Amino acid sequence: MKAVVWHGVGDISLDDVPEPTLDEPADAIVRITASAICGTDLHFVRGSMPGMRPGTILGHEAVGTVEALGPEVRNFSVGDRVVIPSTIGCGRCVYCRAGYYAQCDMANPNGRDAGTAFYGGPESTGPFDGLQAEYARVPFAHTNLVAIPPGVSDEQALMVSDIFPTAWFGARLAEVGSGDVVVVLGAGPVGQLAVLSARLQGAGRVLIVDGNADRLETAKLQNAETIDFNAEDPVKVVEELTGGIGPDRVIEAVGVDARRPVGGPAAHQVGDAVAAEFEREREQAAPETNIQGSQWVPGDAPSQALRWAVEMVAKAGTIGIVGVYPPQHTSFPLGAAMNRNLTIQAGNCNHRRYVPGLLSRIATGSADPTTILSQQEPLPSALAAYEAFDRALPGWTKVVLEPTA
Ligand SMILES: NC(=O)c1ccc[n+]([C@@H]2O[C@H](COP(=O)([O-])OP(=O)(O)OC[C@H]3O[C@@H](n4cnc5c(N)ncnc54)[C@H](O)[C@@H]3O)[C@@H](O)[C@H]2O)c1
Ligand SMILES: [Zn+2]
Ligand SMILES: [Zn+2]
Repeated sequence: MKAVVWHGVGDISLDDVPEPTLDEPADAIVRITASAICGTDLHFVRGSMPGMRPGTILGHEAVGTVEALGPEVRNFSVGDRVVIPSTIGCGRCVYCRAGYYAQCDMANPNGRDAGTAFYGGPESTGPFDGLQAEYARVPFAHTNLVAIPPGVSDEQALMVSDIFPTAWFGARLAEVGSGDVVVVLGAGPVGQLAVLSARLQGAGRVLIVDGNADRLETAKLQNAETIDFNAEDPVKVVEELTGGIGPDRVIEAVGVDARRPVGGPAAHQVGDAVAAEFEREREQAAPETNIQGSQWVPGDAPSQALRWAVEMVAKAGTIGIVGVYPPQHTSFPLGAAMNRNLTIQAGNCNHRRYVPGLLSRIATGSADPTTILSQQEPLPSALAAYEAFDRALPGWTKVVLEPTA
Protein backbone atom coordinates (compact mmCIF):
# COMPACT_ATOMS: atom_id res chain seq x y z
CA MET A 1 0.00 0.00 0.00
CA LYS A 2 1.02 3.66 -0.34
CA ALA A 3 1.97 5.62 2.77
CA VAL A 4 3.83 8.81 3.76
CA VAL A 5 7.03 7.67 5.49
CA TRP A 6 9.45 9.65 7.71
CA HIS A 7 13.06 8.81 6.84
CA GLY A 8 14.87 11.71 8.51
CA VAL A 9 14.55 15.39 9.40
CA GLY A 10 13.53 17.14 6.15
CA ASP A 11 13.27 13.75 4.42
CA ILE A 12 9.81 12.18 3.86
CA SER A 13 8.49 10.24 0.88
CA LEU A 14 5.47 8.38 -0.45
CA ASP A 15 6.51 4.72 -0.30
CA ASP A 16 5.13 1.28 -1.01
CA VAL A 17 4.96 -0.48 2.37
CA PRO A 18 3.37 -3.74 3.61
CA GLU A 19 -0.27 -3.55 4.65
CA PRO A 20 -0.86 -3.75 8.43
CA THR A 21 -2.13 -6.95 10.01
CA LEU A 22 -4.23 -7.82 13.08
CA ASP A 23 -1.45 -8.32 15.67
CA GLU A 24 -3.51 -8.28 18.89
CA PRO A 25 -7.03 -9.59 19.63
CA ALA A 26 -8.35 -6.04 20.21
CA ASP A 27 -6.91 -4.64 16.94
CA ALA A 28 -8.87 -3.38 13.96
CA ILE A 29 -7.69 -2.67 10.43
CA VAL A 30 -9.25 0.44 8.91
CA ARG A 31 -9.28 1.27 5.21
CA ILE A 32 -8.56 5.00 5.24
CA THR A 33 -10.90 7.11 3.11
CA ALA A 34 -9.45 10.48 4.16
CA SER A 35 -6.51 11.60 6.29
CA ALA A 36 -5.01 15.02 7.01
CA ILE A 37 -1.71 16.82 7.54
CA CYS A 38 -1.33 18.55 10.91
CA GLY A 39 0.99 21.19 12.38
CA THR A 40 2.27 18.41 14.65
CA ASP A 41 3.57 16.51 11.58
CA LEU A 42 5.51 19.64 10.62
CA HIS A 43 7.39 19.58 13.96
CA PHE A 44 8.66 16.06 13.09
CA VAL A 45 9.84 17.04 9.60
CA ARG A 46 11.37 20.35 10.74
CA GLY A 47 13.21 18.57 13.57
CA SER A 48 11.60 20.58 16.39
CA MET A 49 9.98 17.46 17.88
CA PRO A 50 12.93 15.04 17.76
CA GLY A 51 13.14 11.30 18.35
CA MET A 52 11.38 9.88 15.28
CA ARG A 53 12.30 6.34 14.17
CA PRO A 54 13.16 6.18 10.44
CA GLY A 55 10.51 4.17 8.57
CA THR A 56 7.57 5.38 10.69
CA ILE A 57 4.41 6.13 8.71
CA LEU A 58 3.28 9.70 9.46
CA GLY A 59 -0.19 11.00 10.27
CA HIS A 60 -2.62 10.85 13.20
CA GLU A 61 -5.86 12.18 11.70
CA ALA A 62 -8.12 9.89 9.65
CA VAL A 63 -11.54 8.49 8.87
CA GLY A 64 -12.29 5.25 7.08
CA THR A 65 -14.21 2.01 7.05
CA VAL A 66 -13.57 -1.06 9.18
CA GLU A 67 -11.80 -3.69 7.08
CA ALA A 68 -11.02 -6.38 9.68
CA LEU A 69 -11.60 -6.91 13.41
CA GLY A 70 -9.85 -8.94 16.10
CA PRO A 71 -12.04 -11.22 18.27
CA GLU A 72 -12.03 -8.81 21.24
CA VAL A 73 -13.68 -5.98 19.31
CA ARG A 74 -17.39 -6.52 19.95
CA ASN A 75 -18.84 -3.09 19.18
CA PHE A 76 -18.06 -2.69 15.46
CA SER A 77 -18.72 -4.59 12.24
CA VAL A 78 -16.75 -4.78 9.02
CA GLY A 79 -17.85 -1.92 6.77
CA ASP A 80 -18.69 0.56 9.59
CA ARG A 81 -17.70 4.20 8.93
CA VAL A 82 -15.37 5.33 11.72
CA VAL A 83 -13.20 8.20 12.89
CA ILE A 84 -9.86 7.40 14.53
CA PRO A 85 -9.03 9.69 17.51
CA SER A 86 -5.33 10.73 17.37
CA THR A 87 -4.24 9.53 20.79
CA ILE A 88 -4.44 5.90 21.86
CA GLY A 89 -5.97 4.72 25.15
CA CYS A 90 -6.62 1.20 26.44
CA GLY A 91 -10.12 1.97 27.72
CA ARG A 92 -9.46 -0.05 30.87
CA CYS A 93 -6.94 1.74 33.12
CA VAL A 94 -7.84 4.32 35.76
CA TYR A 95 -6.63 7.19 33.56
CA CYS A 96 -8.81 6.17 30.59
CA ARG A 97 -11.77 5.66 32.90
CA ALA A 98 -11.31 9.18 34.25
CA GLY A 99 -11.17 10.58 30.71
CA TYR A 100 -7.39 11.14 30.62
CA TYR A 101 -6.90 8.97 27.53
CA ALA A 102 -3.71 10.88 26.63
CA GLN A 103 -2.17 9.65 29.90
CA CYS A 104 -3.24 6.00 29.51
CA ASP A 105 -1.18 3.61 31.65
CA MET A 106 -1.29 0.74 29.13
CA ALA A 107 -1.24 1.93 25.52
CA ASN A 108 2.37 3.11 25.26
CA PRO A 109 4.72 0.11 24.84
CA ASN A 110 7.50 2.19 26.44
CA GLY A 111 5.68 2.10 29.77
CA ARG A 112 3.19 4.07 31.82
CA ASP A 113 5.52 7.07 32.32
CA ALA A 114 6.66 7.33 28.68
CA GLY A 115 3.92 9.83 27.79
CA THR A 116 1.03 9.99 25.35
CA ALA A 117 0.68 7.17 22.81
CA PHE A 118 -0.34 8.34 19.34
CA TYR A 119 -0.08 7.43 15.66
CA GLY A 120 2.87 8.51 13.52
CA GLY A 121 4.91 10.06 16.35
CA PRO A 122 8.38 9.79 17.91
CA GLU A 123 9.79 6.55 19.29
CA SER A 124 8.73 7.58 22.82
CA THR A 125 5.05 7.65 21.77
CA GLY A 126 5.02 3.98 20.73
CA PRO A 127 5.95 4.27 18.00
CA PHE A 128 2.72 3.43 16.14
CA ASP A 129 2.54 3.61 12.37
CA GLY A 130 0.47 6.59 11.29
CA LEU A 131 -2.67 7.20 9.27
CA GLN A 132 -1.43 8.90 6.07
CA ALA A 133 -1.74 5.55 4.36
CA GLU A 134 -4.26 3.33 2.61
CA TYR A 135 -4.75 1.11 5.67
CA ALA A 136 -3.98 1.44 9.39
CA ARG A 137 -3.87 -0.79 12.46
CA VAL A 138 -5.90 0.55 15.39
CA PRO A 139 -5.04 -0.97 18.81
CA PHE A 140 -7.70 -1.32 21.54
CA ALA A 141 -10.19 -0.69 18.75
CA HIS A 142 -13.21 -1.01 21.10
CA THR A 143 -12.09 2.36 22.51
CA ASN A 144 -10.05 3.94 19.70
CA LEU A 145 -12.70 3.89 16.99
CA VAL A 146 -15.81 6.06 17.06
CA ALA A 147 -18.75 5.47 14.69
CA ILE A 148 -19.60 8.36 12.36
CA PRO A 149 -23.30 9.27 12.73
CA PRO A 150 -25.48 9.30 9.59
CA GLY A 151 -25.44 12.66 7.85
CA VAL A 152 -21.88 13.54 8.97
CA SER A 153 -19.48 13.69 6.00
CA ASP A 154 -15.96 12.26 5.91
CA GLU A 155 -14.55 15.78 5.82
CA GLN A 156 -16.54 16.85 8.90
CA ALA A 157 -15.59 13.69 10.81
CA LEU A 158 -11.92 14.12 9.85
CA MET A 159 -11.84 17.43 11.72
CA VAL A 160 -12.91 15.51 14.84
CA SER A 161 -9.99 13.08 14.64
CA ASP A 162 -7.63 15.67 16.21
CA ILE A 163 -7.99 19.37 15.63
CA PHE A 164 -11.58 20.08 16.73
CA PRO A 165 -11.24 18.10 20.01
CA THR A 166 -7.82 19.70 20.60
CA ALA A 167 -9.28 23.16 20.08
CA TRP A 168 -12.22 22.28 22.36
CA PHE A 169 -9.78 20.93 24.98
CA GLY A 170 -7.73 24.15 24.67
CA ALA A 171 -10.82 26.18 25.51
CA ARG A 172 -11.57 23.85 28.47
CA LEU A 173 -7.97 24.22 29.73
CA ALA A 174 -8.33 27.99 29.44
CA GLU A 175 -11.55 27.75 31.52
CA VAL A 176 -13.60 29.66 28.94
CA GLY A 177 -16.97 30.62 30.37
CA SER A 178 -19.98 32.76 29.75
CA GLY A 179 -19.17 36.26 28.49
CA ASP A 180 -15.38 35.81 28.62
CA VAL A 181 -13.05 37.77 26.38
CA VAL A 182 -10.75 35.19 24.80
CA VAL A 183 -7.55 35.57 22.79
CA VAL A 184 -6.42 32.68 20.59
CA LEU A 185 -2.73 32.71 19.69
CA GLY A 186 -2.13 31.03 16.31
CA ALA A 187 -4.55 30.94 13.37
CA GLY A 188 -3.57 27.52 12.09
CA PRO A 189 -6.29 24.86 11.94
CA VAL A 190 -6.23 24.34 15.72
CA GLY A 191 -6.42 28.07 16.45
CA GLN A 192 -9.27 28.53 13.96
CA LEU A 193 -11.31 25.81 15.64
CA ALA A 194 -10.37 27.19 19.07
CA VAL A 195 -12.31 30.30 18.03
CA LEU A 196 -15.35 28.15 17.26
CA SER A 197 -14.90 26.15 20.48
CA ALA A 198 -14.56 29.26 22.64
CA ARG A 199 -17.77 30.63 21.18
CA LEU A 200 -19.63 27.35 21.73
CA GLN A 201 -18.38 27.39 25.34
CA GLY A 202 -19.88 30.82 25.91
CA ALA A 203 -17.18 33.37 25.07
CA GLY A 204 -18.47 36.88 24.56
CA ARG A 205 -15.63 38.04 22.33
CA VAL A 206 -12.85 36.13 20.57
CA LEU A 207 -9.68 37.76 19.23
CA ILE A 208 -7.02 35.89 17.25
CA VAL A 209 -3.32 36.65 16.71
CA ASP A 210 -1.10 35.38 13.87
CA GLY A 211 1.49 36.79 11.47
CA ASN A 212 -0.15 35.20 8.42
CA ALA A 213 -2.67 37.58 6.84
CA ASP A 214 -4.32 34.85 4.75
CA ARG A 215 -5.07 32.72 7.81
CA LEU A 216 -6.43 35.74 9.68
CA GLU A 217 -8.87 36.29 6.79
CA THR A 218 -10.09 32.69 7.23
CA ALA A 219 -10.56 33.34 10.96
CA LYS A 220 -13.04 36.08 10.08
CA LEU A 221 -15.34 33.32 8.80
CA GLN A 222 -15.74 32.50 12.52
CA ASN A 223 -16.15 36.23 13.25
CA ALA A 224 -12.91 36.44 15.21
CA GLU A 225 -11.35 39.90 15.67
CA THR A 226 -7.97 39.59 13.94
CA ILE A 227 -4.53 40.94 14.92
CA ASP A 228 -1.50 40.59 12.61
CA PHE A 229 1.68 40.53 14.71
CA ASN A 230 3.72 41.54 11.66
CA ALA A 231 1.78 44.80 11.40
CA GLU A 232 0.87 45.63 15.02
CA ASP A 233 2.16 44.96 18.53
CA PRO A 234 -0.25 42.21 19.63
CA VAL A 235 0.13 42.82 23.38
CA LYS A 236 -0.57 46.54 23.00
CA VAL A 237 -3.50 46.09 20.61
CA VAL A 238 -5.12 43.45 22.84
CA GLU A 239 -4.73 45.79 25.80
CA GLU A 240 -6.42 48.61 23.89
CA LEU A 241 -9.23 46.41 22.57
CA THR A 242 -10.00 45.09 26.06
CA GLY A 243 -10.23 48.43 27.86
CA GLY A 244 -6.77 48.06 29.42
CA ILE A 245 -7.79 44.92 31.34
CA GLY A 246 -6.63 42.15 29.00
CA PRO A 247 -8.53 39.01 28.00
CA ASP A 248 -9.91 36.70 30.69
CA ARG A 249 -8.60 33.64 28.83
CA VAL A 250 -5.83 32.90 26.34
CA ILE A 251 -5.62 29.73 24.24
CA GLU A 252 -2.10 29.03 22.94
CA ALA A 253 -2.34 27.11 19.63
CA VAL A 254 1.15 27.79 18.23
CA GLY A 255 3.71 25.44 19.78
CA VAL A 256 7.47 25.09 19.55
CA ASP A 257 7.70 26.42 15.97
CA ALA A 258 6.59 29.88 17.14
CA ARG A 259 8.08 32.71 15.10
CA ARG A 260 9.04 36.26 16.05
CA PRO A 261 7.61 39.28 14.19
CA VAL A 262 9.49 40.26 11.03
CA GLY A 263 7.67 43.57 10.51
CA GLY A 264 5.67 46.18 12.44
CA PRO A 265 6.40 47.64 15.88
CA ALA A 266 6.72 44.26 17.65
CA ALA A 267 9.68 43.31 15.44
CA HIS A 268 11.79 45.96 17.16
CA GLN A 269 10.96 44.81 20.67
CA VAL A 270 12.98 41.60 20.63
CA GLY A 271 16.16 42.77 22.37
CA ASP A 272 19.54 41.01 22.21
CA ALA A 273 19.00 39.13 25.46
CA VAL A 274 15.64 37.72 24.35
CA ALA A 275 16.99 36.91 20.88
CA ALA A 276 19.82 34.92 22.49
CA GLU A 277 17.29 33.13 24.67
CA PHE A 278 15.17 32.24 21.60
CA GLU A 279 18.28 30.85 19.87
CA ARG A 280 19.13 28.71 22.90
CA GLU A 281 15.55 27.39 23.00
CA ARG A 282 15.64 26.57 19.28
CA GLU A 283 18.88 24.61 19.64
CA GLN A 284 17.44 22.79 22.64
CA ALA A 285 14.21 21.86 20.80
CA ALA A 286 15.69 21.17 17.35
CA PRO A 287 19.28 19.89 17.72
CA GLU A 288 19.14 18.59 14.13
CA THR A 289 17.60 20.48 11.21
CA ASN A 290 17.53 20.02 7.42
CA ILE A 291 16.51 23.41 6.07
CA GLN A 292 16.04 23.50 2.28
CA GLY A 293 15.62 27.16 1.27
CA SER A 294 12.37 28.25 2.90
CA GLN A 295 11.35 24.63 3.52
CA TRP A 296 11.38 22.83 6.90
CA VAL A 297 12.50 25.88 8.88
CA PRO A 298 11.89 25.42 12.64
CA GLY A 299 10.42 28.38 14.49
CA ASP A 300 12.99 31.01 15.48
CA ALA A 301 11.28 31.99 18.76
CA PRO A 302 9.97 28.89 20.59
CA SER A 303 8.73 30.75 23.69
CA GLN A 304 7.34 33.82 21.86
CA ALA A 305 3.67 32.82 22.03
CA LEU A 306 4.00 31.72 25.67
CA ARG A 307 5.57 35.08 26.56
CA TRP A 308 2.79 36.99 24.80
CA ALA A 309 0.14 34.86 26.53
CA VAL A 310 1.54 35.71 29.99
CA GLU A 311 1.97 39.38 29.09
CA MET A 312 -1.49 39.96 27.61
CA VAL A 313 -3.87 37.92 29.79
CA ALA A 314 -5.77 39.78 32.53
CA LYS A 315 -4.51 39.55 36.13
CA ALA A 316 -5.77 36.27 37.65
CA GLY A 317 -6.66 35.06 34.14
CA THR A 318 -6.19 31.59 32.65
CA ILE A 319 -3.97 30.27 29.87
CA GLY A 320 -4.71 26.95 28.13
CA ILE A 321 -1.74 25.60 26.16
CA VAL A 322 -2.34 23.04 23.40
CA GLY A 323 0.60 24.06 21.19
CA VAL A 324 3.09 21.19 21.27
CA TYR A 325 6.48 21.55 22.99
CA PRO A 326 9.02 18.70 23.19
CA PRO A 327 9.95 17.45 26.67
CA GLN A 328 13.36 19.16 26.45
CA HIS A 329 11.75 22.62 26.12
CA THR A 330 12.30 24.21 29.56
CA SER A 331 11.57 27.89 28.96
CA PHE A 332 8.44 29.56 30.38
CA PRO A 333 8.02 33.03 31.96
CA LEU A 334 7.06 31.60 35.32
CA GLY A 335 8.02 34.62 37.43
CA ALA A 336 5.70 36.94 35.52
CA ALA A 337 2.91 34.36 35.60
CA MET A 338 3.27 33.75 39.34
CA ASN A 339 3.28 37.43 40.18
CA ARG A 340 0.10 37.99 38.16
CA ASN A 341 -1.79 35.09 39.83
CA LEU A 342 -2.32 33.27 36.55
CA THR A 343 -3.71 29.77 36.09
CA ILE A 344 -1.81 27.75 33.49
CA GLN A 345 -3.02 24.42 32.11
CA ALA A 346 -1.44 22.44 29.28
CA GLY A 347 -1.54 19.05 27.64
CA ASN A 348 -2.08 16.57 24.88
CA CYS A 349 -5.76 16.32 24.07
CA ASN A 350 -7.74 13.42 25.53
CA HIS A 351 -9.37 13.06 22.14
CA ARG A 352 -11.60 10.08 22.88
CA ARG A 353 -13.31 12.04 25.64
CA TYR A 354 -14.58 14.74 23.28
CA VAL A 355 -15.02 12.98 19.90
CA PRO A 356 -18.56 11.58 20.40
CA GLY A 357 -19.95 14.87 21.70
CA LEU A 358 -18.42 16.90 18.88
CA LEU A 359 -19.75 14.44 16.28
CA SER A 360 -23.23 14.89 17.78
CA ARG A 361 -22.92 18.67 17.52
CA ILE A 362 -21.98 18.34 13.85
CA ALA A 363 -24.81 15.87 13.20
CA THR A 364 -27.37 18.28 14.65
CA GLY A 365 -25.93 21.20 12.69
CA SER A 366 -24.82 23.21 15.74
CA ALA A 367 -21.16 23.21 14.65
CA ASP A 368 -19.42 22.85 11.31
CA PRO A 369 -15.61 22.64 11.50
CA THR A 370 -15.10 22.38 7.73
CA THR A 371 -15.01 26.14 7.10
CA ILE A 372 -11.23 25.88 7.59
CA LEU A 373 -10.76 23.10 5.02
CA SER A 374 -8.78 24.58 2.20
CA GLN A 375 -7.34 21.75 0.11
CA GLN A 376 -8.26 18.23 -0.89
CA GLU A 377 -5.41 16.32 -2.49
CA PRO A 378 -4.96 12.72 -3.61
CA LEU A 379 -2.52 10.80 -1.38
CA PRO A 380 0.05 10.59 -4.23
CA SER A 381 0.35 14.41 -4.04
CA ALA A 382 1.12 14.25 -0.31
CA LEU A 383 4.69 15.55 -0.57
CA ALA A 384 3.74 18.68 -2.50
CA ALA A 385 0.91 19.19 0.00
CA TYR A 386 3.35 18.88 2.94
CA GLU A 387 5.65 21.44 1.35
CA ALA A 388 2.86 23.97 0.75
CA PHE A 389 1.43 23.49 4.26
CA ASP A 390 4.90 23.81 5.83
CA ARG A 391 5.36 27.17 4.15
CA ALA A 392 1.77 28.16 5.08
CA LEU A 393 1.19 29.34 1.51
CA PRO A 394 -2.03 31.31 0.94
CA GLY A 395 -4.96 28.89 0.81
CA TRP A 396 -3.15 26.04 2.57
CA THR A 397 -4.77 26.11 6.00
CA LYS A 398 -5.88 22.48 6.29
CA VAL A 399 -5.06 19.73 3.84
CA VAL A 400 -7.14 16.56 3.37
CA LEU A 401 -5.41 13.57 1.73
CA GLU A 402 -7.62 11.06 -0.07
CA PRO A 403 -6.09 7.65 -0.78
CA THR A 404 -8.92 6.68 -3.09
CA ALA A 405 -9.01 9.96 -5.04
N1 LIG B 1 -2.11 19.31 22.39
C1 LIG B 1 -2.56 18.53 21.41
O1 LIG B 1 -3.14 17.47 21.65
C2 LIG B 1 -2.38 18.96 19.99
C3 LIG B 1 -3.11 18.36 18.97
C4 LIG B 1 -2.98 18.85 17.65
C5 LIG B 1 -2.12 19.89 17.39
N2 LIG B 1 -1.40 20.41 18.41
C6 LIG B 1 -0.44 21.51 18.22
O2 LIG B 1 -1.16 22.73 18.04
C7 LIG B 1 -0.31 23.64 17.35
C8 LIG B 1 -1.07 24.23 16.20
O3 LIG B 1 -1.39 23.22 15.24
P1 LIG B 1 -1.82 23.63 13.78
O4 LIG B 1 -2.12 22.39 13.03
O5 LIG B 1 -2.83 24.70 13.83
O6 LIG B 1 -0.38 24.18 13.28
P2 LIG B 1 0.09 25.27 12.21
O7 LIG B 1 1.56 25.15 12.13
O8 LIG B 1 -0.71 25.15 10.96
O9 LIG B 1 -0.33 26.66 12.88
C9 LIG B 1 0.46 27.39 13.75
C10 LIG B 1 0.14 28.87 13.50
O10 LIG B 1 0.82 29.66 14.49
C11 LIG B 1 1.26 30.85 13.85
N3 LIG B 1 2.31 31.47 14.65
C12 LIG B 1 3.66 31.30 14.56
N4 LIG B 1 4.28 32.03 15.50
C13 LIG B 1 3.30 32.68 16.20
C14 LIG B 1 3.33 33.60 17.27
N5 LIG B 1 4.49 34.00 17.83
N6 LIG B 1 2.13 34.08 17.74
C15 LIG B 1 0.95 33.69 17.17
N7 LIG B 1 0.88 32.82 16.12
C16 LIG B 1 2.05 32.33 15.64
C17 LIG B 1 1.69 30.38 12.47
O11 LIG B 1 1.74 31.46 11.55
C18 LIG B 1 0.60 29.36 12.14
O12 LIG B 1 -0.49 29.94 11.43
C19 LIG B 1 0.93 22.84 16.93
O13 LIG B 1 1.96 23.03 17.85
C20 LIG B 1 0.43 21.41 16.99
O14 LIG B 1 1.50 20.50 17.19
C21 LIG B 1 -1.53 19.98 19.69
ZN1 LIG C 1 -3.04 16.63 14.32
ZN1 LIG D 1 -5.79 3.34 29.51
